[in-house]
Amino acid sequence: MAPGRSKFSNKFGFIAAAAGSAVGLGNIWKFPFEVGKGGGSAFLIIYLLFCFVLCYPILVTEIAIGRRSQKSAAMAFRPLGHPEWSIIGILGVFCGILILSFYNIVAGWVLGYFVEMLLGNFEIGQHFGEYVNDIAEVGGYTIAFLIATAYIVSQGITKGIEKASKILMPVLIAIILVLTIYALTLDGATEGIVFYLIPDLSKLNLNVIYRALGQSFFSLSLGLGALMTYGSYLSRKENIVSAGAMITVADVGIAFLAGLMIFPFVFSQGIEPEGGAGLIFMTMPGIFESMGPTLGIMIGSLFFLLLAFAALTSTISLMELPVAYLVDKHKVKRKNAVWYAAALIFLLGIPSMLGNGYSGFFTNFITYIGAEKPVNFMDFVTDVASNTLLPFGGLMVSIFAIYVWKRRKLFRELSHGHSSFPKTFIAKYIGFSLQYICPLVLGAIFVITILEIFFGVKIF
Ligand code: PFF
Repeated sequence: MAPGRSKFSNKFGFIAAAAGSAVGLGNIWKFPFEVGKGGGSAFLIIYLLFCFVLCYPILVTEIAIGRRSQKSAAMAFRPLGHPEWSIIGILGVFCGILILSFYNIVAGWVLGYFVEMLLGNFEIGQHFGEYVNDIAEVGGYTIAFLIATAYIVSQGITKGIEKASKILMPVLIAIILVLTIYALTLDGATEGIVFYLIPDLSKLNLNVIYRALGQSFFSLSLGLGALMTYGSYLSRKENIVSAGAMITVADVGIAFLAGLMIFPFVFSQGIEPEGGAGLIFMTMPGIFESMGPTLGIMIGSLFFLLLAFAALTSTISLMELPVAYLVDKHKVKRKNAVWYAAALIFLLGIPSMLGNGYSGFFTNFITYIGAEKPVNFMDFVTDVASNTLLPFGGLMVSIFAIYVWKRRKLFRELSHGHSSFPKTFIAKYIGFSLQYICPLVLGAIFVITILEIFFGVKIF
């Protein structure tokens, strides 16, 4: 370990923090509505394939690069002897700031819904559109959330990030399990499950593939160096390969469960599964209402509280990107860096906040060439940052690891904490995926989607 660098106290602390980063609004808010938009099971299958075939090897590699270099994302490539690759790390920091700018607003909605549930205001589900345009209220919750994130990040690794994650993650899993079991007993459950699980391949098209890819990277916090940064706080004793597997399985498992929980709810309430970003905000309050006032208030507020916590362990890792950059590169004090980052993120988030109907300009922000309808600012940032730049970052990490840094060195780093690693099947799997599948699949999808989605060139 580099002298003086803070680190996670043990493997569980690291896994809780990294899984905490992965599990967040991406699993419980975004995954179900992406599934809904992507035609249900068609999206699910492609998503699962991407997670295990492409993302897991990249996840392990990001952690290994971070641990080897002992530096956060933007600085990690220099100690490995390839300073020119720092641009990829810097791009990651930029991408993290963009993602956090809108993520934080959705987290603000969640916090607001927690309070509404406490007050027993289940009607809110039918007024989601108006709610998000109550800028003073949403803005207030957004700022509160940002301050909570900044405070934890300012406390550093062990006392802040690790401690929060260790407590919050297990409770979240428990409540999702309870709600899923309840969902499965509802009237619309079968319809919901069919939509979610029975493959309908006619729904598959390039857009579904593009979104599933973006979602898999977003959900696993990959492609922008968040896990590289966390890897830099991990001790050499720990086994990255098995920790990475646990993080992936936890993340995919929770997203899968969230789908099992939401679709029976969606169908039982007769809501359209294509509902978009409002899906859980429109469905869940009605469900809690159906439980009767006392139970509804209890379960409803607990649900949104835990969702807020899940978001918090993710916003922490997003904010750690610019903060670690300022600390490592510019020697800014952690406590100051946090507030600079928070101010920037808040300002950048304003257009996303206004783009849900409040401001016509940000609501109909841009129409891609050849597209029928404009997208709002938040969707635009999602397309650029999470659907395009994250897979691009992943592509670069795979090329870097095999063709620049070299497989031998990657495998040597992965052998710390797992000495027989190079001889295992999983080593062959990771090596093959990084060498061939990731560059080919990610490269092809990257080129095709840029041309087709942003420039309207019809390829298929
Ligand atoms: N993985 C988080 C989620 O699914 O909510 C979002 C996220 C966190 C993306 C951290 C990227 C990141 F670096």
